[in-house]
Amino acid sequence: MTRYIALFLTCFLLLTACGADETDTDLTNAESTPESALAAEDAIFADAPQPVIPTDDTVFDDHRDITLKWEWHRPLNDDEYFDVRIWQPGERDQTVSFVTEKELYVSDWLQTKPWGIYLWSVTAVTGEIGTDGKDAISPNSPIRRFIIGEIDSPRLNPVLVENGEAIYNNGITTADGNIIPSCLSCHTADGLDNALAPAIIGQWDRLEARNELLSVREYVHASLLDPNEFVPEGYGPWLMYQEYATILTDEQLRAVVEYTLSLAAQ
Ligand code: HEC
Repeated sequence: MTRYIALFLTCFLLLTACGADETDTDLTNAESTPESALAAEDAIFADAPQPVIPTDDTVFDDHRDITLKWEWHRPLNDDEYFDVRIWQPGERDQTVSFVTEKELYVSDWLQTKPWGIYLWSVTAVTGEIGTDGKDAISPNSPIRRFIIGEIDSPRLNPVLVENGEAIYNNGITTADGNIIPSCLSCHTADGLDNALAPAIIGQWDRLEARNELLSVREYVHASLLDPNEFVPEGYGPWLMYQEYATILTDEQLRAVVEYTLSLAAQ
């Protein structure tokens, strides 16, 4: 009998101990601020606003004067924001801005992007801006599409073309004095294939045919990121300068790609 009482007591003590543990945890939670709880929690979607303007598949002549507008069924709380994302098909969506208004002027952001098809979406999110928790679009957020430039290719962003011309023709000198060779030093201005490099000028169709999985822009971009990945017949690897992708910024790369496309389209 005493054995049973001892057993009962042990069980009782154990249970109480567990109970006490739980109470401790509860207390810890209750003491933590809502902010830290949010930061730990990752994405919190308040809801999915409805995109209104531009209507689906609107075609803009250029990137100037594009404002996105959306509606939401209630005002935002103090710690809520609209996470506005824009991306091109096949790319990862990226946040352009967190805003509290129900519209966003996106022309400046688009200025250094290629023309073409863009997708956009808005999600209302809660919590601290800049933490990487809200790294997604709410599954309820509708995705809309707009197009910059004419539907027929090539659709080239003139701002990028202009920015890329100097790099193509002159190369660049880095801050520590390294001189990066110009594209023109091998892809010559006469527009002919030579021993140094294949021609670029007027070669849109040939570049388009080089890889059936890639658009011309993707192919040219890939040729800079990893010149040895696609080596056209008649040339060997390691002939093209290999370091553009490590030395040029993303924006400089996009610009020189766009200028190369403008030459290919001539
Ligand atoms: C040192 C000479 C050299 C320089 C400098 C150079 N290239 Fe090249 N490029 C080549 C050679 C050789 C090839 C072919 C072999 C290969 O793809 O690696 C090539 C291939 C290419 C291709 C693919 C052409 C095709 O017909 O498939 C593109 C596009 C290209 N280069 C763009 C550029 C751009 C843009 C720059 C400047 C940012 C540049 N190249 C600088 C030598 C050069």
